[in-house]
Amino acid sequence: MLFYPTIGKIRRNCNRTFSILMKEHLPVSYSKDHLFIEDVSVADLVQAYGTPLYAYSASYFESRLDLYNRGREGLEEQIQFCYGMKASSNLELLRLVAARNWGADIVSGGELFRCQKAGIDPGKIVFSGVGKTESEIAYALEAGIHLFSVESPSELRTISRIATQKGTIAPVGIRINPDVDPGTHPYISTGLKENKFGIGHSHALEIYREAASLPGIRIKAAGFHIGSQLLDFSSYEEAAGRLLALVHEIEDLGISIDEIDVGGGLGIDYLQNHDLNEPLDTPDPAAFVRQMWHWINESDANRSRKLRRITFEPGRSVAGNAGFLITRVLYRKRNEDRQFFICDAAMNDLLRPSLYQAYHRVIPENASRSDTFGDLVGPVCESGDFLAKGRNLPDLQEGDVAVLASAGAYGFIMGSNYNSRPRSAEVLIRGNSHKLIRKRETYEQIIENELIRD
Ligand SMILES: Cc1ncc(COP(=O)(O)O)c(C=O)c1O
Repeated sequence: MLFYPTIGKIRRNCNRTFSILMKEHLPVSYSKDHLFIEDVSVADLVQAYGTPLYAYSASYFESRLDLYNRGREGLEEQIQFCYGMKASSNLELLRLVAARNWGADIVSGGELFRCQKAGIDPGKIVFSGVGKTESEIAYALEAGIHLFSVESPSELRTISRIATQKGTIAPVGIRINPDVDPGTHPYISTGLKENKFGIGHSHALEIYREAASLPGIRIKAAGFHIGSQLLDFSSYEEAAGRLLALVHEIEDLGISIDEIDVGGGLGIDYLQNHDLNEPLDTPDPAAFVRQMWHWINESDANRSRKLRRITFEPGRSVAGNAGFLITRVLYRKRNEDRQFFICDAAMNDLLRPSLYQAYHRVIPENASRSDTFGDLVGPVCESGDFLAKGRNLPDLQEGDVAVLASAGAYGFIMGSNYNSRPRSAEVLIRGNSHKLIRKRETYEQIIENELIRD
């Protein structure tokens, strides 16, 4: 199967929205009315591993990495990709990332540990996040990461102290909060001044001045991450423009900035308005990379300046449409005029619908199911436990299997043991083969760390 784009299209309107779209097929199809992911039948997966089950298409995941790589052709030294692994971090997926020579954007010691296990080069790791602990900082210094993306003056001082104690130098960039509205859901917008992330523009020069005076610190970069699920490039243009203006002021202080970290955030098509047979319209990662390169290195404002390396940290746009949550309908019921499909996956398996009313397309395993209206809910004891609410849904029968699409990013990873529900298994598909990449949790594992003391 080929998942590469077929047509490019520029969308621009007078409100300054701008993006470059491509056409793309998801790795799902029907054969004789039964659903396949790549060339594996969903019924076979259910038979082999049970439900709920996360399934990832390896070929699709890799095709997304390749699209980004295509954007840096000829600029391999100047453009670096660090997979935003908070989107989905199973070791097998990280191995695919490492095989493409990507690094990772991490936000915890646990993520660094995963990178080491998966063979991601520490020299390509950026450590982001507002609350790095002392032990995490020490661990990252020992590992020899590429960059600390610093989010507060206190964090900067802590890094300086620990690096000095260790007799080493910490490479740092400051994450600037550019106060740009990316027009996405408030919970996933991160570059507004009311968000906890980054350093406000008005404090930026101060912190760079301090960084230059501290021992154990080497200033390398400046960066931003303005939010997630961004379908419009213009907020990046705005953020890049503001950051570059600031970078020029920083350099006027005699501090050199060699690298700009533009974060992640590129969005995906959640299939809300598509016939499954139709290709999706989705922002083109290669065009996005080229466009950012242009805005940062070739735009007029910057023409007289040196070339800067750019780091991208895409997560959702790599993993999102590679993943599927497979579930089985346990019961149907009707309360007054509302119809409920109760399935065996719940908010503890896929939190996004409950957390931010996210839309996930529900695809029936059996293509012959007609449409109806209702709620797809899970067994968790919360009214907020739904996977699809008040929507057109396939008319699923008890025992039917359905697939929630676009669940590869912020899906399994946000799972929990709420209601003492074991986390689901994960499986990786390639062509007509599949392999288990995470076993289903057991009840014993859920209580493993609890201590009964007399
Ligand atoms: C600093 C940083 N980089 C990268 C990402 C990945 O973003 P996305 O999955 O939208 O590409 C995030 C997500 O929150 C982030 O906070």
